[in-house]
Amino acid sequence: MEMKLVSQAVKDLTCDALIVGATRAEKGHEGNKQAFFSFTKEVDDLLDGLISSMYANGEFKGNVGETSQIYTMGKMAARRVIVVGLGAAEKLRSHTFRRVSGSAVRYAQSKGAHRVALALGEQECAESLVANLQAAVEGTLLATYSFKKYQTTQSNGARIEEILFVSKDAQNQQQQAALQRGIIAGEGANFARDLVNEQPAVLSPTELARRASVMAGQFGLECTILDRPQMEELGMGGLLAVAQGSAEPPKFIILRYQGAPESREVLALVGKGVTFDSGGLSLKTAAGMEDMKGDMGGGAAVIGAMQIIGASKPKINVLGLVPATENMPDGAAFRPGDILRIMNGKTIEILNTDAEGRLALADALSYAVKEGCLTIIDIATLTGACVVALGAKRAGLFCNDDELRDDVLAAGEASGEKFWPMPLDDEYQELIESSIADIKQTGGRYGGAITAAKILEHFVGAASWAHLDIAGMEFNEGKQTFMEQGATAFGARALATLVLKRAEKE
Ligand code: BES
Ligand code: MN
Ligand code: ZN
Repeated sequence: MEMKLVSQAVKDLTCDALIVGATRAEKGHEGNKQAFFSFTKEVDDLLDGLISSMYANGEFKGNVGETSQIYTMGKMAARRVIVVGLGAAEKLRSHTFRRVSGSAVRYAQSKGAHRVALALGEQECAESLVANLQAAVEGTLLATYSFKKYQTTQSNGARIEEILFVSKDAQNQQQQAALQRGIIAGEGANFARDLVNEQPAVLSPTELARRASVMAGQFGLECTILDRPQMEELGMGGLLAVAQGSAEPPKFIILRYQGAPESREVLALVGKGVTFDSGGLSLKTAAGMEDMKGDMGGGAAVIGAMQIIGASKPKINVLGLVPATENMPDGAAFRPGDILRIMNGKTIEILNTDAEGRLALADALSYAVKEGCLTIIDIATLTGACVVALGAKRAGLFCNDDELRDDVLAAGEASGEKFWPMPLDDEYQELIESSIADIKQTGGRYGGAITAAKILEHFVGAASWAHLDIAGMEFNEGKQTFMEQGATAFGARALATLVLKRAEKE
């Protein structure tokens, strides 16, 4: 799909669908032209006030993502105009442009459009033009992604071939750069979505490692894959225990990006890479297991973020770590009652083999500490408790450093992958005290997301650390209209946004 910026009068844009935006008409604004950005107003005039009358008679309200199509009947070069709602003007943010460009483009695609022009008027919204433009570009890429490789009867004929972003100044360097950033972020996220959508029989730890290493080759990253003997040598007792019951060997994926070779500082991104979580001997229910191919969603987010970072070339050093394994029941599987020794020497008393993510992460966090990383961010589909707490609209953020917490929250808002701060108080430590090992693996049902985070805290040394619990965020049910049902790659764009921002700060 080709994407470019163009400066052309909206009347002369030859395309199957021209998309314009309109904010919500508030009470008292009849037929309200104030709701229209300049492109929309131009189109409204060319169509003899048709958009205005749609508002006036209440047919179109301008709610976020609402779409309506108008045939132009030769009044302009575009075959049809699609009006998309931007919601309340005072709530407009760059993420709005991501959502609405996505919804509108999906709508245009469903109507069989091949060549689409977007004239949303990003410049007229309060936030920065380039952020809005980048978001619109990302939105179109996320929206046109689809995972259909296993459908033998494909009904969807039409695919969009070209998207034109209408700008008042298409030659502008900053706008061109925003277009590129949007493409890089959209492609990185879509790559990660492929990893999460892939069936678990194909996406074993070995295959995940292979795909990460192919990506690394394409984007100028160093990639090292550790096998079982190397994990044994390093003493990765957590990851190895989880892998014990699986016929698939575990892999420890290491991706390295060196954007500031003169500096010794390295930021680590650590992602849970459980390619299938059956629960192990503490077996899940059938319903509880349905989505567990997505238990490598954190790992996919890290790999996707590393692709975006590799393509963006920020001046910062980043280490991406993904402990990859299956969690399966077997005669050789680890058991409740076992005591594991993690790479940093600490011991954990196992109570429930379904709490496997924290064990694999404990080794990966210890590895990051040993590598000298002073900032560590981990991301994991870690606890059902976090989904109960936050309802799969925001992911949990646990952080031991105020500045890092603010940066993660800001990256979340900018990318539309939103987080909410959760506590790490010392009091919660009581819940994971063990009489037989250094700590217990679980702290009971209450506060389950927090006790999981408290366990991870034992493995981050003195690093400034953020833990992102993204359980429940890895798939969407298709209600988020700007993305196809299935994998979201939640966190890939937020992590990359955070890293790029940190690189600018230095
Ligand atoms: N992968 C699951 C968490 C999960 C739940 C992810 C729902 C996505 C959706 C994790 O390994 C798990 O099973 N956690 C247990 C921990 C418990 C046994 C302490 C849980 O949340 O029930
Ligand atoms: Mn589990
Ligand atoms: Zn899991």
